[in-house]
Amino acid sequence: MSGLDELIVGQSAPMREVKRLIELAAPSTTTILVQGETGTGKELVARAIHNLSKRKGKLVSVNCSAIPAELLESELFGHEKGAFTGADKTRSGRFEMASGGTLFLDEIGDMPLSLQAKLLRALENRTIQRVGGGNEVEVDFRLVCATHQNIEGDIESGKFRADLFYRINVFPITVPALASRSVDIPAILTSMLRSEKKDNNNQPVFTDGAHAEMMRYPWPGNVRELRNVLERACLLFPGRQIEQADVKNNLLRIKVPDPIEEQEALWAATSNLDSVAKVSEGKNRGSEMPLPHPSHYQDWFSFFDDIDLRRHLQDVEIVLIEAALLKSDGMISAAADSLKLRRTTLIEKMKKFMIEKPINANRPPEIE
Ligand SMILES: Nc1ncnc2c1ncn2[C@@H]1O[C@H](COP(=O)(O)OP(=O)(O)OP(=O)(O)O)[C@@H](O)[C@H]1O
Ligand SMILES: [Mg+2]
Repeated sequence: MSGLDELIVGQSAPMREVKRLIELAAPSTTTILVQGETGTGKELVARAIHNLSKRKGKLVSVNCSAIPAELLESELFGHEKGAFTGADKTRSGRFEMASGGTLFLDEIGDMPLSLQAKLLRALENRTIQRVGGGNEVEVDFRLVCATHQNIEGDIESGKFRADLFYRINVFPITVPALASRSVDIPAILTSMLRSEKKDNNNQPVFTDGAHAEMMRYPWPGNVRELRNVLERACLLFPGRQIEQADVKNNLLRIKVPDPIEEQEALWAATSNLDSVAKVSEGKNRGSEMPLPHPSHYQDWFSFFDDIDLRRHLQDVEIVLIEAALLKSDGMISAAADSLKLRRTTLIEKMKKFMIEKPINANRPPEIE
């Protein structure tokens, strides 16, 4: 079975479908777009496609969101000697390195617009131009892209070119959220434990009850979160048996919060508005501090006994209003726009929750 089942663990129906698509598409040179929530295993899928493609070259990965926009062009396309200060010799880029192999463009949704045009040209002509060079260099690459964002939304807002999207969305593969394939959890845990056995032979043992508890949890961070929970389990329960209650109380760190703790958590969240503001800037959406998706509340009552719904929703409102005000430098109309609220509604809410505008000495007072 060409190692696919060892690389991507899981025999649930949605994962069998993902593997069927990988096996179908891998041998061709078709461009593949891997989509899925954060931590679902998109990078693993890219590796599996390359392994099964039998292409002789390397798998070359580029994370478009991790490389500053001004460096990304030369990273991808290479540069000629003297192209810019510091370019003391000619250097080939990742397209050339991937020749005969697979180029994996991770977080393609974060690629700057100016480079999107160049990528489109490379895909259409199968040639590239190094930065500072006039010659067309032939490149033989197979492209796999990944994103956890909704690129269609980015097309509407003008951040992603529609023509490029159609060019990369030839064969889409969506990796399902872990919660929708929870039957795979025991096998994934076993495989992760096996691969770490050589470094740690004092591993914990998960009982059936522990597995059952983990299969009920919604896993907003998907397989990456599962890996982290396993790491916690190795530290907390070395060589011990993990029962259902241990998972609930210690591994998923779930207990009914008391009101004082809840208030403290709210203060902690509101005092850390920087990261919330970053999320609303759209950078690294989902990786900095992802807001929970409404579906993540679905299993609430499997883990908690109750929720003060009105209060919880208010807390979310307060955090978002404060973050919007901070981002707009205290400009109420701009904050209202970004929250898609009427200005008067925002003012009412600020009064109700006693939210102050952040003070900014450089800004002239707003007329209200
Ligand atoms: N089916 C699986 N079997 C075993 N390990 C897996 C599986 N899926 C994911 N993993 C592991 O989970 C972690 C996250 O996977 P990966 O980095 O591929 O996710 P991703 O979708 O690319 O995440 P992100 O969107 O954050 O970049 C990795 O350590 C990976 O090895
Ligand atoms: Mg990834």
